[in-house]
Amino acid sequence: MVKLLFLLLLLSCVEKEDPKKIWPKLPSFRDNLTEEKIQEKISKMSLEEKVGQMIQPEIRWLSRGDVEKYHLGSVLNGGGSWPQGNKFASVQAWVSMADGFWEESMKGKNKIPVIWGVDAVHGHNNVYNATFFPHNIGLGATRDPDLIRRVGEITGKEIRVTGLDWNFSPVLAVVRDDRWGRTYESFGEEPELVRDMGTAMVEGLNEAHVLSCAKHYIGDGGTENGINTGNVDISEEELWRIHGQGYISALKAGALSVMASFSSFQGEKMHSHKYLLTDVLKKQMGFDGLVVSDWDGISYVKGCSAGNCPQAILAGIDMVMITAEWKKFYYNLISQVQKGIVPIERIDDAVSRILRVKYKIGLMDAPKPSERFLSGDLSQLASLEHRLVAREAARKSMVLLKNKNLLPLDLKKRIVVVGKSANKVQNQLGGWSLSWLGKEHDNSDFPNAISIFKGLKEKAASVRLDETASNLKDVDVAIAVIGETPYAETPGDITGKETLEHFNRYPEDVQVLKKLKAAKIPVVTVLLSGRALYVNKELNLSDAFIAAFLPGGEAGPALADLVFGEQDFTGKLSFSWPRSDCQTPLNIGDKNYDPLFSYGYGLTYRDLDYLPNLDESSPHKVKGCTSSPKFAKAHSLL
Ligand code: BGC
Ligand code: BGC
Repeated sequence: MVKLLFLLLLLSCVEKEDPKKIWPKLPSFRDNLTEEKIQEKISKMSLEEKVGQMIQPEIRWLSRGDVEKYHLGSVLNGGGSWPQGNKFASVQAWVSMADGFWEESMKGKNKIPVIWGVDAVHGHNNVYNATFFPHNIGLGATRDPDLIRRVGEITGKEIRVTGLDWNFSPVLAVVRDDRWGRTYESFGEEPELVRDMGTAMVEGLNEAHVLSCAKHYIGDGGTENGINTGNVDISEEELWRIHGQGYISALKAGALSVMASFSSFQGEKMHSHKYLLTDVLKKQMGFDGLVVSDWDGISYVKGCSAGNCPQAILAGIDMVMITAEWKKFYYNLISQVQKGIVPIERIDDAVSRILRVKYKIGLMDAPKPSERFLSGDLSQLASLEHRLVAREAARKSMVLLKNKNLLPLDLKKRIVVVGKSANKVQNQLGGWSLSWLGKEHDNSDFPNAISIFKGLKEKAASVRLDETASNLKDVDVAIAVIGETPYAETPGDITGKETLEHFNRYPEDVQVLKKLKAAKIPVVTVLLSGRALYVNKELNLSDAFIAAFLPGGEAGPALADLVFGEQDFTGKLSFSWPRSDCQTPLNIGDKNYDPLFSYGYGLTYRDLDYLPNLDESSPHKVKGCTSSPKFAKAHSLL
């Protein structure tokens, strides 16, 4: 008996000591014929050609001839990077640039076509004239995977129109602290939702024959205090349970590329995390595709710069995304292989992964970009059909949080639309819209997007615009469009003295609502935001309140469908809503879960609203939210 107990104890210890077991095996997508072709290519490649295959420079740092000369395997355009630096670049300009790179790559004796990656994270958002879908935070609120599949397919088709092949999407972040500036790029705070939506996005992109990229591996949404590129200090079991689920199913669905995260896990940068990149992802899970590094992400590894980082390659990065220093990296890696610092087997493995992906997506035999499926087909860009799906997505993403006998509105009412975002398209699009931060544009830069005011006006002719609420005569009801203004990545983090309290960051919104209150005008507030915020002041000043997140180009018509009662609200929160200024992290499943609106909340027109008057205090207004003790300690050491 004692022996048996001892054996059981021993077994349970063994299990704990082998964390790899929690990561499931993925089905392999290798086949013998392709593997033979890959080996044959590799046997004919010089070291220079192999290393070139592993490098992905950004187009702003590329000159004509570089793809051929350095045998480059890939290129990318970052957020706000367009052919010839022209934000109005035509489809023709995109396609002919793609042709140019392709032709250079095919001059090489091995004929390995270059692959072009892009961030089409809510539609093909760097391209003038494209369709703009809601950001993922809103797509999560739709709870509609079939819709996400269609969004993915349309995004893929518009990518194809410009002659590109590879989308750095979907973001599979499970965001735990909404202060993170990338919260809106996430489908939600809950692993299963991210899994279902992320997988649907991969399936949609597959339909359009566009390579997807699961990012950012792994734990990007779990950093302490929501700091962008920060540290994830949880157990490996939790990493798997919370942040891993999306990868398991997205990779099964055919995401053949993975992007490493800027963040660290237990203090070690993901870009040099051999255990998670190689032992877990490639060996234990059996991922056969390629791992690409993030934007100069290798430069944050200890002892590295963007031009020199054998550590990242040794850890399992197969392709490096580099800006200014890509040539340095090229020469350094060649010499590191010659000196034996990086074994040639690692290089061959990386190149075989890159080639495998290129074979699997049919790129190896594809004609030049301008001759490919849908290429140059202007009728596909923001077509009526695409925009109708964007409108459906926007409508289904809006969540009704309060409705004190005001909605739906009567079309005959005299309606004024107020607030800084009433007629400002960029505020409904958010970051990653024509540019990285998305904040430098006019409505005319988005010819296929309709502002909220315009969308309402199309439905009800009597609607008028008065952003500052300066003339409130002859008004029956107001629609106030307020919220955050665009941001991306680190500039979007809420840090230091800032809290989740919207009023502290954007006091002008309460000013507008107060004017309406003083004039005794009932108000429907539409909040545009990239995350759940503490908005008790704004809620108290509103009769109805809609969390619209970043609803995209069709926000206007979508809102009109809802507020006039043609359609009912179906959106449900994909993030828990805070009841105080520093209530973060706040996630479904927390021990003392006490949000203002729970994960999954969302009223319909059939629901009665019992929302009482809310507490408006802001205890952390002066000092900001306290960081977790560990984080504070780490920072005091810096
Ligand atoms: C680029 C983005 C990139 C960011 C990273 C920007 O300049 O356009 O694509 O993600 O820099 O810091
Ligand atoms: C972002 C990635 C993006 C890359 C290229 C980085 O700053 O973290 O999500 O794919 O830039 O634009």
